[in-house]
Amino acid sequence: MSPKQEQSFPEQLNQYRTAIEEALDNALALTPCRYQTVIEAMRYSLLGAGKRIRAVLVLEFARIFGVMPEHAMPVACAIEMIHAYSLIHDDLPCMDDDAFRRGKPSCHVQFGEAAALLAGDGLLTCAFETAGQAAQNLPSERVLAAMEKMAQCAGYRGMIGGQVIDLESEGKSISPQALEEMYRLKTGALLEASCSCGCLLAGKQEMVVTAENYAKDLGLAFQIVDDILDITGDQALLGKPVGSDAEKHKSTFVSLYGLDQARKTAEYYTKRAMETLQKLPLPDEFLMQLTDMLLNRLQ
Ligand code: IPE
Ligand code: IPE
Ligand code: MG
Ligand code: MG
Ligand code: MG
Repeated sequence: MSPKQEQSFPEQLNQYRTAIEEALDNALALTPCRYQTVIEAMRYSLLGAGKRIRAVLVLEFARIFGVMPEHAMPVACAIEMIHAYSLIHDDLPCMDDDAFRRGKPSCHVQFGEAAALLAGDGLLTCAFETAGQAAQNLPSERVLAAMEKMAQCAGYRGMIGGQVIDLESEGKSISPQALEEMYRLKTGALLEASCSCGCLLAGKQEMVVTAENYAKDLGLAFQIVDDILDITGDQALLGKPVGSDAEKHKSTFVSLYGLDQARKTAEYYTKRAMETLQKLPLPDEFLMQLTDMLLNRLQ
């Protein structure tokens, strides 16, 4: 599954994505049982469209430091499960109240609010069960370190904390510092987990700070682009509603600085992320190209 020199970047990315989709499908099989509905709702939101950026980052950072992507796959799947849960809950009426996700009705629209809540809980807990399976091929202390990092980044000091700031900032004018903190947490934290878990699975603790510095800047650029696409994007391509942030009076880089300045800021953080990448022993251009693609994406 590792990117090969003769493949183009889109081919390499596609190869990763196919392997991730297959692993996710296997990690959460539909078994007939009395509580089958929750498995259906979990699979509905986990599988199918989704850029798989976080999983790709886990596999790629692991590869850079000599771990076979196959061996890092359980942790890559785990972070995708946490991400899918965060999207289910993010779309709930009590949060962003969005009816469309990844090109289809949001989980709560399809299955009802209670099932969506439980599907999110199910995915979050399944993530830890799945990540633990990495210990079948890698030293258990490395897997434990990765799981601890994953939990920290997903939890109240990470993604959850960012979501709290996001909700509490609706309809308010917040400081640039508060806005940046919100982005670093709600979006940056899971990207940090992805990059640093790759390092930790390879036993390269000393590379975690550099990986996190890269992920922090990537996360800021990524969320700013998400905000821009919420205004300028095409719903058919995005697979989620356009205009949702303005409707909820969200505080975003665009609401604070305008579209032009937001775009420049995303470019600035992307450039900084690429500079940090140069400190890593990159075997090829894959991560540079991925970083550039995320700035210029339409979905
Ligand atoms: C959406 O993440 C939520 C944000 C943090 C902006 P993605 O844009 O990675 O969503 P999928 O996984 O591709 O659907
Ligand atoms: C979401 O930010 C961040 C999460 C942790 C899910 P948004 O609320 O902007 O994400 P979208 O636009 O709904 O995907
Ligand atoms: Mg949100
Ligand atoms: Mg949202
Ligand atoms: Mg958004």
